Amino acid sequence: MGSVYVEELNTVVCPAERLEPALLEQWMRKYYFHCDFDIGSSGVEDYAMGELREILDIDVAEIDALVFHDSETLGGRGLRRSLADRWTGGDVDQVMATHGSSEANYLIMNALLKPGDEVVVLDPCYQQLYAIAQAIGCRLKSWAMPFRQGFSPDFDELRRLITPETKMVVVNFPHNPTGASLNPEQLQQLIKEVRRVGAYLVWDGAFTEMTFDAPPLPLPNASYERAISMGTLSKSYGLPGLRVGWCLAAPEVLEKCIHLRDYLTLHLSPLVELMAEKAVRHADRLVERRRQQAMRNRDRLGLWMEEHQEWIEWVPPAGGVSSFPRLKKVVDVEAFCHRLAQERKVLLVPGVCFGHPQHVRLGYGGSPQALEEGLQRLAAHLKKAASKTT
Ligand SMILES: Cc1ncc(COP(=O)(O)O)c(C=O)c1O
Repeated sequence: MGSVYVEELNTVVCPAERLEPALLEQWMRKYYFHCDFDIGSSGVEDYAMGELREILDIDVAEIDALVFHDSETLGGRGLRRSLADRWTGGDVDQVMATHGSSEANYLIMNALLKPGDEVVVLDPCYQQLYAIAQAIGCRLKSWAMPFRQGFSPDFDELRRLITPETKMVVVNFPHNPTGASLNPEQLQQLIKEVRRVGAYLVWDGAFTEMTFDAPPLPLPNASYERAISMGTLSKSYGLPGLRVGWCLAAPEVLEKCIHLRDYLTLHLSPLVELMAEKAVRHADRLVERRRQQAMRNRDRLGLWMEEHQEWIEWVPPAGGVSSFPRLKKVVDVEAFCHRLAQERKVLLVPGVCFGHPQHVRLGYGGSPQALEEGLQRLAAHLKKAASKTT
């Protein structure tokens, strides 16, 4: 592997006033805590502390022994080591633990990008993965995932999009919101195209382990020295409230994040790091239960989609826990989702939050009961909306 070339310290931090409103977060602020049936989120059913202690064999004495020291800038030793053992072949120097992967995304974009840089992003896209680059003043290019092509991105198009000017390519597979993924050959093709121009490959692996029909993809870091992989406990691990994510990259790249982190979060809490370390050490125990549940939910959702194809069409997801169906008869999908939340207490996310107003994000990672009731109420709401337009 070649060495990683990192430019001088970047002085540009994206100005807050240039960051566009975070539409998904705004939607969640409005409805996440006020709905009874969540079929809009992109996570699995959350674990409770008691369950977690039992599954991870955490003795209360271990928690009692914890001293509330400050932690280290790139993460406490134990947590970094557990992440390194799981993801980087034991190399701790390539690991930074963060306050959710959102902090990792924010740090990396600000540390590596400058105004005018060309950045290739997916469309549709989780907003954070393009909006920070946009606020910095980068030139964004969209790599389309067309619904009519099963949300599969086209590699000929990627070849045209990536130029010697390209500084970064940002992807997220399995993908939020569509649930689409790549196969191992496509991953290698992607790496080949990015390597051709020496750009950074930012790989948001929030759902890496959550695959149903194929084993998880390997991280690109092992085969490309300019790959930067993000991960999180918020999605497949059922621990969003722990607020732990990570960034795996060459030490020179992580070093560049420290400057900004010194003004942002400084470090994580040692209590959070203790829980996170245990979760990472026994990740498979946490993830496998939720993966099985999501797989059963996906089957149920598939039957529901078939029964309701007069109103809704979809691409069955290959991974993650969300799908991105299209509503056939609803004129204003955002208004429809507002009413669904207000009148029927069902959380669904309008596609406008991902730039595709005729779609909705429908999540199936939660409890089977919430999914069942949410789908029944959604069906009634769809029929009512259709009767108004005909
Ligand atoms: C694709 C993707 N990346 C990153 C994040 C950020 O999550 P967190 O900060 O909780 O790790 C999310 C959250 O929804 C996401 O969907």
